[in-house]
Amino acid sequence: MKHIRNFCIIAHIDHGKSTLADRLIQSCGGVSLREFHDQMLDSMDIERERGITIKSNTVTLDYRAPDGQDYLLNLIDTPGHVDFSHEVRRSLMASDGALIVVDASQGVEAQTVANLYLAMEYDLDLLPVINKIDLPAADVDRVREEIDSDLGLDPFAAIPVSAKTGVGIDDVLAGIVEHLPAPTGDPEAPLKALVFDAHFDKYRGVILQVRVMEGTLKPRDIIHFMHTDRDFKVDELGYNQLKLVPRKQLSAGEVGYIVAGVKSVQDIEIGDTITLANRPATEPIPGYQPARQVVFSSVYPMSTDEYQDLTKALDKLAINDAALTYEKDSSAALGFGFRCGFLGLLHLDVIQERLQREFDIGLVISAPSVKYQLTMTDGSTLEVDNPSYWPDPMKIQSAAEPYIKATILTPEAYVGPIMELCRDHRSESQTMNYLSAGRVEVVSEMPLGEVLFDFYGKLKMITRGYGSFDYVPIEYRTTDVVKVEILVNKEPIDALSYLVHREKARTRALHYCEQLAEAIPRHQFKIPIQGAIGGTIIARATIQPYRKDVTAKLYGGDVTRKNKLLEKQKKGKAKMKQFGSVNIPQKAFVSVLQAD
Ligand code: GTP
Repeated sequence: MKHIRNFCIIAHIDHGKSTLADRLIQSCGGVSLREFHDQMLDSMDIERERGITIKSNTVTLDYRAPDGQDYLLNLIDTPGHVDFSHEVRRSLMASDGALIVVDASQGVEAQTVANLYLAMEYDLDLLPVINKIDLPAADVDRVREEIDSDLGLDPFAAIPVSAKTGVGIDDVLAGIVEHLPAPTGDPEAPLKALVFDAHFDKYRGVILQVRVMEGTLKPRDIIHFMHTDRDFKVDELGYNQLKLVPRKQLSAGEVGYIVAGVKSVQDIEIGDTITLANRPATEPIPGYQPARQVVFSSVYPMSTDEYQDLTKALDKLAINDAALTYEKDSSAALGFGFRCGFLGLLHLDVIQERLQREFDIGLVISAPSVKYQLTMTDGSTLEVDNPSYWPDPMKIQSAAEPYIKATILTPEAYVGPIMELCRDHRSESQTMNYLSAGRVEVVSEMPLGEVLFDFYGKLKMITRGYGSFDYVPIEYRTTDVVKVEILVNKEPIDALSYLVHREKARTRALHYCEQLAEAIPRHQFKIPIQGAIGGTIIARATIQPYRKDVTAKLYGGDVTRKNKLLEKQKKGKAKMKQFGSVNIPQKAFVSVLQAD
């Protein structure tokens, strides 16, 4: 066991985590150069294209230290983004130490700090790495200062590297062995293994990634999942060495995979503890938190005959994504679809993109919403995320919405506008901490619902891309929320309804009305587009009719005939208004809903 190191890499997005991981793998001879391709651990196309790590992957490396000793290094990959923080937690729980990667030209960012706090929660030993020292803009001394003042870590322990050119990689490997601790645990104790990741394989079913804390696990053992209370038989287990390499056992301190006839990741919970059915541990590993969906949205196929395809696609995605929830939903305007739950906005984005790209389904996605907690006048409670199920406001006694603690790191110059942005988004408190040279940390408590709209984009704009943002959910707080309906020609269009704080209702309604007025083609009659709370109109736009000049053909002649014709046309219009239905093109929904 003293020759094992279990560690993960944490970093702000784009600071080079995946590139560094690839380098470490390559240096340990994990693959031949010919087999080596750029982003080894990021296996999904979208990940590669957008350069973000979504599902974690793990790999066991053979490393011979300068003193000739052989080590097994288990590199536990972590997703970088806040939306996946429960996955980050899992990876941290499976590790004994972590590399903290900081970009030498960008310095410490909000995610670096947020992830550091998490790592400290799990008592990990930390080794800072300063990456991208090959860049002309690299400023290693400044970053060392930030590592000291912003992260509170020893600046002299930081290892300067270039994951791109390979400079310093050997120092990182030596540093891991020297500064990060070996695992502990008793191979004879009752089994406790943490399931920290799982993915679906077409041929083998679900492949579980585990870290054995105590005890020993062998093929043919019957394993028991302590939280989900299910049993499976182990078919095979072993090390992840870019391919699966079977072994005779996994014991305390080791990291590896298990194949055990699990059909879908929905059947298990990541973070669960595995023990042996015939010799169970008494307590699961502490710190278990199931994935929580906090953002909800309805997803409809652009054309109704794609509904079956959408169903199949979601089933397929869910096999591999335990955090995605979906249930049938329908809209008078858009037909059948699904109400989906996501971990956050990025998760929604990723799923939407995969549906469109991998499954080639055109989609209309309703405005994302948080989940509100309602206390009704009869004393009962209700949770609602879907505007369609919003109860009669007369029956609601009080409502609460989820709040977050947001951390924004920014150059000092932008603090004023950022404070204003936060206040515009109903921030309830803002505190500032001055960090190293000209950098400020703004901590703000604000509603999660407020960052779903137009927050991140504005932040990036205000700070010219220098501001970074991260958040953790904190609690539910009382709020004044209303349901806004959008009416086209007096008919409510259900798919466009949304739940929002009363203060924000009008601005958004106006925005929707104006967008719709642009996206719906003119008809022969005037179309009012309105935003309304209950019966009260709060915003309005109008689509003017075509004016067919019916009198153009009448040259001079009888005035009464001309008037008659105009009269007839007016009636015709009234009839249309009354009975005529407005033709709203699907793309109008897309343009309105995407405008957020
Ligand atoms: P996520 O997967 O989103 O968490 O990002 P990441 O932290 O894994 O970053 P990734 O490894 O994808 O690198 C981000 C970008 O930085 C890529 O374009 C890399 O090629 C580049 N990069 C990584 N390391 C270096 C380096 O040492 N020098 C230079 N010049 N570029 C680097």
